Amino acid sequence: MKILGIESSCDETAVSVVEDGRRLLSDVIASQVDEHVQYGGVVPEIASRRHAENISGCAKRALSDASCTLEDIDAIAVTYAPGLIGALLVGVNFAKGLAAASGKPLVPVHHLRGHIAANYLTHPDLEPPFLALVVSGGHSHIVRVRDYTSFEILGRTRDDAAGECLDKAARAMGLPYPGGKNLDAAAKDGNARAFSFPHPQVEDAPMDMSFSGLKTYVINLIHRYEQRGEPIDVASLGASYIKAVVDCLTERVVMALDLTGEKKLVVAGGVSANSVLRRELDALAEKRGIALYKPRLSLCGDNGAMIASQGYYEYQAGCCARSDLNAYATMAIDINGYL
Ligand code: KG4
Ligand code: ZN
Repeated sequence: MKILGIESSCDETAVSVVEDGRRLLSDVIASQVDEHVQYGGVVPEIASRRHAENISGCAKRALSDASCTLEDIDAIAVTYAPGLIGALLVGVNFAKGLAAASGKPLVPVHHLRGHIAANYLTHPDLEPPFLALVVSGGHSHIVRVRDYTSFEILGRTRDDAAGECLDKAARAMGLPYPGGKNLDAAAKDGNARAFSFPHPQVEDAPMDMSFSGLKTYVINLIHRYEQRGEPIDVASLGASYIKAVVDCLTERVVMALDLTGEKKLVVAGGVSANSVLRRELDALAEKRGIALYKPRLSLCGDNGAMIASQGYYEYQAGCCARSDLNAYATMAIDINGYL
């Protein structure tokens, strides 16, 4: 079964064809990074416009790269939540148009479920149940994945996401957008013990996370250096900060593994590309004797393939949308059936 997956929740217009949820036939991504870099972050209005301009060309290329036409496609999957509402609407409306014109089923896909599914494309043997750490620019969750379409949130951030926290710190350190990736590179040879950071805990909810305090702490620290005219060792500050964020994540993963007894751990979302997080999770998995699944680097960020993959499983579970499908800026990962 071939699924066309469409993703436009943030600043990548992405369309892909995936067979049976696992086999990637094409993967087209039109990134807007070069344009948003001059503003230091994603400008929602620009993102929506570029999606509208690019989406049709991306879809055509995804089909031709997969050596097929719309006729060969069995269903059209699209990210409908969560994300920038104007950006999401471009993908949803385009998918609705394609579905109406071709008579193919329309499958709504939750963006974070898609990130998890990037692992099905990377690891053909991976099947639920497993525990997932989902860390992106807008979300940080520890999720128990009971089945392909059954999710239970065990922990979540109470404020900023891990990616947002890395992005804002990178910007304060003078690094260009996209911050998380550039901070990862800049911190490569830094001393992760040079600076110490607070260790935020959420009272009565040990698996929940809070990153806004860490973010404010590092921004204030940088301002103090600037006011004193003292240079900052960006590599070491970055390395120490990344370590603080990664420690917060891995500590909660350990709690969730203890609680659930799961022997399979999946990491997903843009931050799963982070070299320190990947290394620390490798070490954790080895120490505990569990299997760790990381998306291949090219599938960590937003892409259409992960939407097509999850779309396959949503379709198998009977989740199809009517022609009045809407987009939603926020939606919990554990909600089944679109609103
Ligand atoms: O999943 P994603 O591409 O978009 C959202 O759904 O939000 O995640 C983007 C986030 C950004 O915060 C970005 O800085 C972060 O992923 N990111 C990284 C790295 N690559 C991307 N963070 C840390 N290290 C990286 N190598
Ligand atoms: Zn994403």
